[in-house]
Amino acid sequence: MVPDADLIVTTARIAHHDLVAAECASLTGGRPDADGVATAHSLDTVARAAYVHDGMRVIARARSFDALVDRVAASDVDADRFRVDVHDPGHRIGATSLEVAVRLADVLPYFPDLDDPRHRFVVVAQEDQFVFGEVVARSDGAYRRHDTKPWSTSSSLDARFSRALVNLVPTSTSILDPCCGAGSIVLEAASLGLVAFAVDWKPAMVGMTRTNLAHFGYDADVTRADSRTHRQHADAIVTDLPYGHAIHTDEASVRAILENGATCAPLGVYVAPQDISSWLDAAGYETVAVHTVQKRAGFTRWIHVAEARRR
Ligand SMILES: C[S@@+](CC[C@H](N)C(=O)[O-])C[C@H]1O[C@@H](n2cnc3c(N)ncnc32)[C@H](O)[C@@H]1O
Repeated sequence: MVPDADLIVTTARIAHHDLVAAECASLTGGRPDADGVATAHSLDTVARAAYVHDGMRVIARARSFDALVDRVAASDVDADRFRVDVHDPGHRIGATSLEVAVRLADVLPYFPDLDDPRHRFVVVAQEDQFVFGEVVARSDGAYRRHDTKPWSTSSSLDARFSRALVNLVPTSTSILDPCCGAGSIVLEAASLGLVAFAVDWKPAMVGMTRTNLAHFGYDADVTRADSRTHRQHADAIVTDLPYGHAIHTDEASVRAILENGATCAPLGVYVAPQDISSWLDAAGYETVAVHTVQKRAGFTRWIHVAEARRR
């Protein structure tokens, strides 16, 4: 517990999914606990989040829920037209969300407005404390509409996952996906207003990415080229490497893509079906972090965040 911290965020809780915590740390500076709650240094970029839900200013904390209700009652928080939600994935309060909201509503001297609240509060339950906070930032969920893109393939990433990958390099203003497929990652980059470069050596993929971008009215530079040699500079590479049979049968190609990538951008976020830290090392990168996401039994995605070594 960090008692003096006054900003917290709640995140999705998804088993075997390190990307949730990684995105949260990258965007807010805090790592979520087992209840999906993190102390945040900043809420400035919560709106773009994929797995972070709410960013809150803490109004009261207590060791028990009853004590929390007393503290809220004693606070002079402005709650005109309020709504209270509950984040209690561990069922620590022992009451329904409605019962929790009613307890708080009873001690707040204001009228609620569930449909159009001016103040949205969340009761957050953690292992060692209960928190009452006012929501001051929320994920806008804008990535969701990209799941309706006209084109995708069996290896396309979903929009939420793609958004979180881009959020691992939140200060980058230009993004290159050298293996863009149908363009899931560049859709996220472009929709965030970043300069987006997409490359694929298959004409069909280039066509899909262009159509998908045009469908949403986004602008990006889409090129048909071989990323083992094609040079395009950007602040960061974010890509899902070719795999299936390819990564095993054509390791040399993937290594060549990494080697070329290390000369194109100082940062790389590489998704692969195995730990490729040693390949990254050989290609000229220092692996900063590796996150795993289990998609289903027997298939795990490895997300590597790497920094190119200065030459
Ligand atoms: C795993 S898929 C990418 C999927 C993409 N993220 C999506 O959501 O649709 C990898 C892509 O890399 C492309 N690729 C493989 N080798 C390549 C190379 N040397 N240069 C450029 N693209 C390559 C493949 O054509 C394929 O579209």
